[in-house]
Amino acid sequence: MNVLVIGAGGREHALCRALARSRELGQLFILPGNAGTARLGTNVPGDPCNIALAVEVARRESIGLTVIGPEEPLALGMADALEKAGLRVFGPHASAARLEADKVFAKQLMRQYAVPTAEARTFKDFRLAHQYIETRDEPVVVKAAGLAKGKGVIVCNDPSDAILAAEDMLVKRKLGSAGATIVVEERLLGREASLLAVVDGHTSYLLEPAQDHKRLRDGDEGPNTGGMGAFCPSPLIDAETLGQIETQILVPTLDALVHENIPYRGVLYLGLIMTTAGPRVLEFNCRFGDPETQAILMRLRSDFLDLLNAAVDGGLEDAEVAWDPRPALCVVMASGGYPDKYETGLPIAGVPEDSDDVVVDHAGTRYEGDQVVTAGGRVLGVTALGETLADARRRAYDVVSQIHFEGAQYRTDLGAAT
Ligand code: AMP
Ligand code: GLY
Repeated sequence: MNVLVIGAGGREHALCRALARSRELGQLFILPGNAGTARLGTNVPGDPCNIALAVEVARRESIGLTVIGPEEPLALGMADALEKAGLRVFGPHASAARLEADKVFAKQLMRQYAVPTAEARTFKDFRLAHQYIETRDEPVVVKAAGLAKGKGVIVCNDPSDAILAAEDMLVKRKLGSAGATIVVEERLLGREASLLAVVDGHTSYLLEPAQDHKRLRDGDEGPNTGGMGAFCPSPLIDAETLGQIETQILVPTLDALVHENIPYRGVLYLGLIMTTAGPRVLEFNCRFGDPETQAILMRLRSDFLDLLNAAVDGGLEDAEVAWDPRPALCVVMASGGYPDKYETGLPIAGVPEDSDDVVVDHAGTRYEGDQVVTAGGRVLGVTALGETLADARRRAYDVVSQIHFEGAQYRTDLGAAT
């Protein structure tokens, strides 16, 4: 079966790597891919949000399955268009991708179906938001309702920060239309974990739980980023907690989607926080997490394409999935200046060949002639398996220390305080 992967990040390289191990895989195409995916398949240049192009490539290359990585094309309806053209696709319709693309919608659904989450109010009018925030005693989080490339969530310590954040979004329109509506929610306390469910419309298969590190700097300091590293499994989710998450969060959410006539096919990513009152949903994503996927798929031992096909065909209850018992940890190497402005086109040196236990996923990279150069904020992810998490960490950092590009920044404490 020929497969087309949409996207250009570390997640997509990891998806391609897992697909490349499948016995069913024919040819692999990536739109647009990066220097890493170019070694596993054929990169097709173009905009990953160009729906007409995706349909054209899928037809031209006799694609049996398109796997959509990022949220933007999903929110724009790429899965709908591919299906309409009679093509098979892994990834939810636009109506279901709203769970990520429209936080107001997600909050309403959770409230209506009693899915535990932070208490929240929605505002379009800055005056009303201001009044509300002033009356709150507890710290709040201000969130843009729309997709804001990881910049739409401001965790505030006091009301004046929250009012400024609301003003930036609603009045100054710093996030454009994504921040024209905001959600102001109570700030929850607890450790965070990411749980990804592969969903076939009714049934789901839970991938091994993971944790990511969203803050830029060691000790969880600095701004939020797309993710500076991840590890799997997460010790926060033991069997009992997993049962709780399934019965209190996952099942009610999937039932809600069925009830609302929003068939969900793809990955439903639960961003969770473990409060003293139990797990709560921080966010839904409608796709694989980045960099969680790099750590999760490093541990997958069974056929990945079989699993995706089972989800598309509605046969997940029979899916046979096997995991490596060893933990995996991914360290992201980012450009100097990320998540704000950064330079690109810098040569990357010292990337070793992949081994069974350590791989380097490319994220923001491209070829300039024969040279691999930086091409994005997050540049590479080094993922290692180890007998213990500490061992995986040691192996990953060993390889990180061999890789060089000017201005490279990475955290040195990943997986340390689990
Ligand atoms: P989100 O994109 O909604 O997951 O938010 C990004 C990050 O902001 C999360 O990973 C949390 O660290 C933090 N965050 C979001 N919502 C809350 C909340 N209600 N309470 C505390 N922290 C939050
Ligand atoms: N690592 C967080 C995300 O993929 O949204």
